[in-house]
Amino acid sequence: MTLRRPTPLVAGNWKMNTTVAEGVELARSLRAGLDGSRVEVELLPPFPHLVPLAEALRGGTLRLGAQNCYAEDRGAFTGEVSPAMLAGICDDVLLGHSERRHILGESDELVARKLRAARRHGLRVILAVGETEAERLEGATLAVVDRHLRSALEGLEEVREQELVIAYEPVWAIGTGRTATPEQAEEVCAHIASRLDELLGEVASTVPILYGGSVTPDNAAELFRQPHLDGALVGGASLEVEAFIAIVRACESQRAPRAPSR
Ligand code: 13P
Repeated sequence: MTLRRPTPLVAGNWKMNTTVAEGVELARSLRAGLDGSRVEVELLPPFPHLVPLAEALRGGTLRLGAQNCYAEDRGAFTGEVSPAMLAGICDDVLLGHSERRHILGESDELVARKLRAARRHGLRVILAVGETEAERLEGATLAVVDRHLRSALEGLEEVREQELVIAYEPVWAIGTGRTATPEQAEEVCAHIASRLDELLGEVASTVPILYGGSVTPDNAAELFRQPHLDGALVGGASLEVEAFIAIVRACESQRAPRAPSR
C-alpha cells in the first residue's frame, strides 16, 4: 500500500435544519472562527441556503456542498435538483447518506448514477457508506461497506485528486449519541482504505476517509488519533458554533500537516 496523504476535512451536514436567515448567521459565525484553518472545513446546508451561503463565504477558505443531487441534468423530475444546477454554486455534493438510503429508499444503483452525474459536472463527491445495527450484529459490516463502495466506484473513469471523499457512517451511531469506539471506526476506515487501493489505484492514497456518527468535541480528538481517519462528517454538533469549531481544532491538532519550517 502506498503512503496515504489525504487532506484532512471536517464537514458539517446541517440536514433539514435552520431557516435561510439562521443558516446565513451560522455560516458567518463559522467563517469568523474557521477561515484559514489548517484543515479543510466544509458546510453542507439545505438547498435554499446554497446561493446566499456562497455569497457569505466568498473570498474565504470554507468549502460549500449540497446534501444531495439527482442523477440527470434536466427534465421532468419534480422536486429534484441536478448537478448541472449546483456546479458553479458549490464545490461538493454528499451522496449515499444513510437517511437517503433508508428513509427515502435510494438504491445502490441510484447512488452510483448520481455519483457519475455529479462527476460530469466537476463536483467533488462525498460518498457515505455504512451498516445498520442489524447488519453489524450479523457480522456483515465490512460486506455492507464493500457493497456500497463497489456499487458506486467500480468501473469509474479515472478518479483524480480532490474528486472524492468517503464518509464511514454506521447508521446506529447517527443522531443516537452512540459514537463508534475509536477501534470500531479505525477497523472499518482501514478496510475502506485498502478497498479504495484496489478500486482506484494510486489516487486512493489522496482520498480522505471521514467518520460520522455522534461526533462531539468530547470524542473528536480520540477519533482523529486513529491512523485511517482523516476527518469527520458532523451532524448535530455542526449546528452549534462552539462545538463545530472545537471539532475542527481537534482535527487540526491531530491531523494537520505541520507548517513548513523556513
Ligand atoms: P450526528 O453527528 O448528528 O450523529 O449525524 C451524523 C451524520 O449523519 C452526518 O452526516
